[in-house]
Amino acid sequence: MQRDDDKLRAYYADAPEGLSLDDLDLERVPRHVSIIMDGNGRWATARGLDRSMGHVAGVDALREAVTTSVRLGVDVLSVYAFSTENWRRPQHEVDLLMHLFATTLVKELPLFHQENVRLLFFGDLTALPEKTRVVFQQGLDETADHTGMVFALAVNYGSRAEIARAAREVAREVAAGELSWEDVDERAVSDRLYTAGLPDPDLLIRTSGELRLSNYLLWQLAYTEFYVTDALWPDFTKWDYLRALLAFQGRSRRFGGVVRS
Ligand code: IPE
Ligand code: IPE
Ligand code: MG
Repeated sequence: MQRDDDKLRAYYADAPEGLSLDDLDLERVPRHVSIIMDGNGRWATARGLDRSMGHVAGVDALREAVTTSVRLGVDVLSVYAFSTENWRRPQHEVDLLMHLFATTLVKELPLFHQENVRLLFFGDLTALPEKTRVVFQQGLDETADHTGMVFALAVNYGSRAEIARAAREVAREVAAGELSWEDVDERAVSDRLYTAGLPDPDLLIRTSGELRLSNYLLWQLAYTEFYVTDALWPDFTKWDYLRALLAFQGRSRRFGGVVRS
């Protein structure tokens, strides 16, 4: 991924005490960063606001995370925005989220054009309200030719549903004689997930301190480094992002092997 180092330095110029971009090895920035954006409701409740205000504030944090990822030269940023289980929430909260997805996407399309960002979705979009679906499709169409960072939004996404869907597709192809059962290997499954063609996440960030995956990318996170911060999603800044990357670079990734000295 091409990165403008001058722009990056300017972006990270006003560092708080004890934190510096200079401590980051720019040659080892993760290719794929994934974020479970959690804590919007708690952020709002702590301020005596309705949970929906937390989601509204979360949009600003997401815009900053997209810009930060572009500046850092990350190839893929994926974020968990709505799970297959989130339909269990009160109807008005679900409606607000669906509305927010649509209006935000329309508003942010100029940013995607300006930064050459290609939009993708993980999840079953057929269950979304018509308006949200139409806007998502518009976003896909308008950014399909962009060659910069991939920004993937997981909406109505559940990892188990994703794997079952891949299994169904494999079964269909075998039954139709298009695929031999002997060729059903890890690659065959990977190629039928929403993440087909993308590298697995190198780094998973979860905000608001929760230590669980909540049905997110179970297959793809096999060797991903986890970073959990207590920061609630609307409070997550480029500085928290930098802290996560510094922690990531301090890890020893072995992939089941031994450390090379
Ligand atoms: C994450 O924030 C956003 C979505 C799941 C849509 P939450 O809404 O889960 O916030 P908390 O976890 O209740 O604080
Ligand atoms: C996970 O957060 C889903 C998203 C961030 C979209 P949740 O808030 O839904 O997860 P749980 O319920 O705490 O596990
Ligand atoms: Mg939550």
